[in-house]
Amino acid sequence: MNGTLRTLISEEQIQARVRELGARIRADFPDQPLTLVCVLKGSFLFVADLVRAISGEVRVEFLGVASYHGGTSSSGVVKITHDLRHGIEGQICILVEDIVDTGLTIDYLVRMLKVRGPKALHVATLLDKPDNREVEVELSYVGFTIPDEFVVGYGLDLGELYRNLPYVAIYSP
Ligand code: IMP
Ligand code: MG
Repeated sequence: MNGTLRTLISEEQIQARVRELGARIRADFPDQPLTLVCVLKGSFLFVADLVRAISGEVRVEFLGVASYHGGTSSSGVVKITHDLRHGIEGQICILVEDIVDTGLTIDYLVRMLKVRGPKALHVATLLDKPDNREVEVELSYVGFTIPDEFVVGYGLDLGELYRNLPYVAIYSP
């Protein structure tokens, strides 16, 4: 790839913030079992760190979603590539996303999961990019609010690359 990368959020900032979010989630639901729903692929690193920052009983489920098809703008089309392995009825669920841009993906997923009868369903997103929002979505836990730039790293990709960066960077072609 021949674009340029500029660090937006350092590895240290991410790690510190994720620990804070984990502690806040546990404080909001003391002594209660939680189910983290990891939206693949983008949030796999965020979930891996977040789950270790939440004490007590935590389950992890994976939901495979394809919304982007290799480009840098939202298609608004959500395709489920891997469904949850277990039901979430009666459970307190945290839907974990890498980034919320237009909001179309998370809005679709929240409506899809609510039908399955969770006791509660909250959204945690590492990044919030509010400038392009097309649908109102309630985000209970936000790592960082960022400007309208295309970012990669810490799970976020461009054409499947850059997910392995331990920090978040702005990508310019
Ligand atoms: P939305 O449906 O527009 O909110 O987009 C959500 C999805 O688009 C995210 O889960 C990401 O997979 C992808 N996405 C949005 N913005 C970016 C970005 O800046 N970098 C990488 N992926 C992004
Ligand atoms: Mg995503």
